[in-house]
Amino acid sequence: MKDSKEFWDKTAEKYIKSPLKDEATYQKKLAITREFLRSDSKVLEFGCGSGATAIFHAPHVKHVIATDISDKMIEAAKRKAVEAGVKNIAFEQGTLDSLNFQNESFDAVLGLNVLHLLEDVDGAITRVNQILRKDGVFVSSTSLIAEINFAFRWLISGMQLIGLAPYVSRITKCDLISKLMTSGFAIEREWQISHESVFIVARKV
Ligand SMILES: C[S@@+](CC[C@H](N)C(=O)[O-])C[C@H]1O[C@@H](n2cnc3c(N)ncnc32)[C@H](O)[C@@H]1O
Repeated sequence: MKDSKEFWDKTAEKYIKSPLKDEATYQKKLAITREFLRSDSKVLEFGCGSGATAIFHAPHVKHVIATDISDKMIEAAKRKAVEAGVKNIAFEQGTLDSLNFQNESFDAVLGLNVLHLLEDVDGAITRVNQILRKDGVFVSSTSLIAEINFAFRWLISGMQLIGLAPYVSRITKCDLISKLMTSGFAIEREWQISHESVFIVARKV
């Protein structure tokens, strides 16, 4: 956990400045997510990074809590929200474990490009289920590290050894769906973005 925070604090500035790899895919993720949000929705985004997604959705919902393990990400996200004139986002540094959310207090939880970075994916999904109200949605976008080609996986392992890549779990789409269903979610939308990445909207039943 400490290593993860250090990695993301160190990487934050570069990550925030780097251009989006695929604008069309990002826009489609925003549009699908919007379908599941209402003007009275209370939303949590964990692993919010630069805050761009939270800032996009905030005007269309009641309130957003946007969190990240990295102080540097949170500092940058707060600045962006001020620049954008968005006032209904509370930014907090921390993780699903360290932050004290009330059970059944959110209508939607967003975990975008973050689940595969967690050491305890099952624990995170269970926690998300607890803090969502019944019928609430968990919107996730996840890199399927197990599907990435062998050479690239070796490269990631090498980079991890010298601190240039974060911890990643080798989750598959089947694992992820099975974990969601076991934790009390029904799969509402599944979009296989590419061989190595999946976008899922899961509803708490
Ligand atoms: C790949 S970035 C994605 C950022 C943003 N969600 C996006 O889609 O652009 C992963 C983010 O998750 C954060 N992160 C990593 N581990 C975390 C954890 N255990 N809890 C909360 N945030 C975490 C990192 O600091 C980073 O901002």
